[in-house]
Parts: sequence; structure tokens; C-alpha cells
Amino acid sequence: MSATLRFDNIGKVFPGVRALDGVSFDVNAGEVHGLMGENGAGKSTLLKILGGEYQPDSGCVLIDEKEVHFGSAAASIASGVAVIHQELQYVPDLTVSENLLLGALPNRLGWVNKSAAKKHVRERLAAMGVDLDPNAKLRKLSIAQRQMVEICKALLRNARVIALDEPTSSLSHRETEVLFKLVRDLKADKRALIYISHRMDEIYELCDACTIFRDGRKIASHTRLAEVPRDTLVQEMVGREISDIYNYRARPLGDVRFAVKNLQGDALSAPANFGVRRGEIVGFFGLVGAGRSELMHLVYGADKKKDGTIQLDGQPIKVRSTGEAIRHGIVLCPEDRKEEGIVAMATVAENINISCRRHYLRAGLFLDRKKEAQTADRFIQLLKIKTPSRRQRIRFLSGGNQQKAILSRWLAEPDLKVVILDEPTRGIDVGAKHEIYNVIYQLAERGCAIVMISSELPEVLGVSDRIVVMRQGRIAGELPRGQASEQSVLSLALPQAETVAQAA
Ligand SMILES: Nc1ncnc2c1ncn2[C@@H]1O[C@H](COP(=O)(O)OP(=O)(O)OP(=O)(O)O)[C@@H](O)[C@H]1O
Ligand SMILES: [Mg+2]
Repeated sequence: MSATLRFDNIGKVFPGVRALDGVSFDVNAGEVHGLMGENGAGKSTLLKILGGEYQPDSGCVLIDEKEVHFGSAAASIASGVAVIHQELQYVPDLTVSENLLLGALPNRLGWVNKSAAKKHVRERLAAMGVDLDPNAKLRKLSIAQRQMVEICKALLRNARVIALDEPTSSLSHRETEVLFKLVRDLKADKRALIYISHRMDEIYELCDACTIFRDGRKIASHTRLAEVPRDTLVQEMVGREISDIYNYRARPLGDVRFAVKNLQGDALSAPANFGVRRGEIVGFFGLVGAGRSELMHLVYGADKKKDGTIQLDGQPIKVRSTGEAIRHGIVLCPEDRKEEGIVAMATVAENINISCRRHYLRAGLFLDRKKEAQTADRFIQLLKIKTPSRRQRIRFLSGGNQQKAILSRWLAEPDLKVVILDEPTRGIDVGAKHEIYNVIYQLAERGCAIVMISSELPEVLGVSDRIVVMRQGRIAGELPRGQASEQSVLSLALPQAETVAQAA
């Protein structure tokens, strides 16, 4: 299965953007090659060229020293290449096994032998250590599970060159371990692997070599990554030094602004109680599936509560729908911004203004376009959203820049009182994370009560004034900033059996 891969002087221009500019590097057989760079640096574009979705304007790809030109995704697949894209491609109404065998269904005698297909899939999934029901419809699965299906699909094809674009951004800890094992097995089998991630820890854990992009250009390739300090990579990516990306600043806290009492719902295993003070940032940590997003959906009126009350500034309020929440000044920026948030055909400016534009109605009738443009430009600048202009359609932005635009939508609301952010920095590069934390601190300084859900423990520890830990559908405990450490938080988050196993 051995293969080597070479990119030779690849260039690609989109209207108004030079996405790739003379990019050359090698990926050796039996190597995991990390690809890093800021949002919009050109990483996904390179993988789309490898996957036959885009054609390069200049340069070429070589596999085992031979030039290959992929006019289509099918041509790339036929050459033994598997690209797992950042935006998942799946058919929601098919089952896991149907999705996995798409285009390759056992077809003896001209019809689909469903039971043979299922058996095959079940065996292969078990061999890979992936726990998925072959009969489940994709739409019923979590994003993480859909991602696993996508990865398994590539592996079932026995590809020689495998490229993964931010595969772990929605995987749980355990699923990530399964994935890493798969990647290591493929590496031992001498395949050529490319791995894109914004998570530095993963890059060091998994990759042998690493190439850094900035603004479509290759800044550096490190063949022996283990010898390169982190600061060097950050400096190469963002072109400046960032000494402390969290840059935490303490601030005075006011009265309890937002309180949840005895809240009950289907997704919770015990009633939930918590409060957030004016100016306070409360981090919600838990393993994937601990119930953090579900709890916030109840709070926000997106799911139906069974019981419980919500108080704003000491007064009970009714939140029966998300519209009602927003009218009270409570917003939630969802985790799955792609599915819940983005209006793909609209422009960046329209996406940013979608929620707050009702404030910009002149005499209640005409949209104040100037105000909208100002808001859009302010956030494009503030979060460094990489786009030729505010009029660009959002679907042409890179994954991380779309995330920033959708996040801006919630931050652009005037009169915010309570801001709930679900994984606000998922898929966002180190430099832009820094800017997002600053926006969060500014909101807190204005007196907002902030809830930040995050699966990245260093981020929760770095930004929060207090940390609430959830486990298996309930609040397991909380820690003030001064007492929170990786260990103290994890011991609350892990199911008891795992804690014991870890201690042993
Ligand atoms: N189809 C397209 N049309 C116009 N511009 C595009 C298109 N695809 C990508 N771009 C632009 O090319 C640049 C590189 O985008 P790309 O998706 O490769 O970035 P990336 O490094 O993967 O970023 P991220 O970390 O955010 O995923 C961006 O400025 C993006 O807006
Ligand atoms: Mg990308």
C-alpha cells in the first residue's frame, strides 16, 4: 500500500483571492504530515485539488513520482486517494451501511444484497474499533458519529493516500483515540497521510512532519516536527508572537444576572441549578454527551422544559421559545453553526446582520443598509474575517471564517444581557481565538453574564472565572478559577469507573 505524494508549485486563484501560491512539499510513505495555518490560509483548497474537486491553475500533484491530474472526485478516488473534507458529504436518509457502501454496494445478480452488505460493514466497523449501528439513519446520528462514518468510508476503499481535514473538530475524546489508532495503523502500512488541525496538541501527538501555510504560501516544512518548539509554529502561522493566547483579565463581578432553578427536561438526569453574575464568565466543561448543549437548549427555549424557572436580574421570566429568549437579551450561539446557523446563499454582511437587523429598521419599514454595512465591517475587522468584501457569499469563505461570521451574528446583538456560547472557537485558528476571547472579555466588562461551553480544557481553564462540570446529564460540581486545574476538572467530568481506572 506504500505511496509517496508530492505537491509541485501548486497555484489556485478565486475571484478576489489567491488561495494558493506556488506551494510545493513532499509527503513520504509511512508519514503523517500535518498542515497548519490560519483560517483562510489555503489548507482545504489544497485538499480539494488533491480530491479532484478543484483543478489547480498551475503546478501539479505527483503520486509515486508520476504526475496525476484529477478532473473529478471519481478520478481521484480511482487513483487510490481518499480525502475526508471539512464539510461532510453524506446522505441523511440512508443508513450507515448504505452510506459506507455508496457506489460500491454488493451487486451480485444486479440487485443489492442488503444483508450481506450489513454483515460486511458490521465486521469492518468492529475491526476498526468503531461502535456504530449499521442500520441507523445518518440523520439520527451525532455530528461526531457522522464524521466516523465518513472516515470509515475512506478506509473501506483501501486508499493509499489519505487526507483528513479537521477530522476531530467534533469527535469525543474516545472517538479521537479510535481515529488516532486508525491513522497510526495506516502509517505503519506505509501509506501517505495528510492531517489538518488547529489543535497543536494533536499535531504533535500524531504527525511526523508539518507544513505551515500563510496567505496561500508555504512558510515552512519541518521534516522532524518533534524537534520544533510550539512557539516557532505559532510564529510561522500568524507572523507575530502571541505570548499568552488567553490573556485573562480579572474584572469586578456584580449581582446574579441570570439564574436557572430546578430545571428539568428529557435530556437531563437530574434537575439543574446554576447562576451567573454580571460580568462573570462561567465555563461549562464535560465530555461529549455530558448534556451541556442539551441543558442550554432548555434554558434557551429551543427544547421544552418539564419544570423549573429562569430568572433575569432577580425576576422570573418566561422563555418558551428562542424568540422570547432573544427579546429578553439572552442569546445562544449554537455548536453546530453549519446546520443551525448559516444561510449559505446569503452574503457575509447579511449573515452577520440576520438577527440584529430588526433594530436597524428605519421607521419600522426600511432596512438601514448603512448601519448593516458598518456592523459587518466592524466584525470583519474585529475577528479578522478573511473575505474579499462584506458582499461575498458566505459559502465561499473558509470553514473557520464562516464560523467567525456566524459568531459575530450573536455578538452583534445590541442590549445583550446573557450570552451562551457553545464551542465558540471550534475550527478557529490560534490568532483568531485570541481575538474572540477579547470580545468575550469586553462583553463581560459591559455587564453581560457569559456561559461558555467548550470541550477544550485549556480554553475553559484559561478564560473562565468559574467552571461548572457536567457528567452524564447532570451538573457534577463546580470550581472557582483558583481551584480549577486539569486534574480537578477531569476528576469531576469522568464517569466514576474511569476515574478509578485512571488512578490505578
Ligand atoms: N469556491 C471558492 N470561491 C471563492 N473563494 C474561495 C473558494 N474556496 C475557498 N476560497 C477562498 O480561498 C481562501 C482559502 O480557503 P481555504 O478554505 O483553503 O482555507 P483553510 O486554510 O482551509 O481555512 P480554515 O482553517 O478556516 O478551514 C479563503 O480566502 C477562501 O475564502
Ligand atoms: Mg479549511
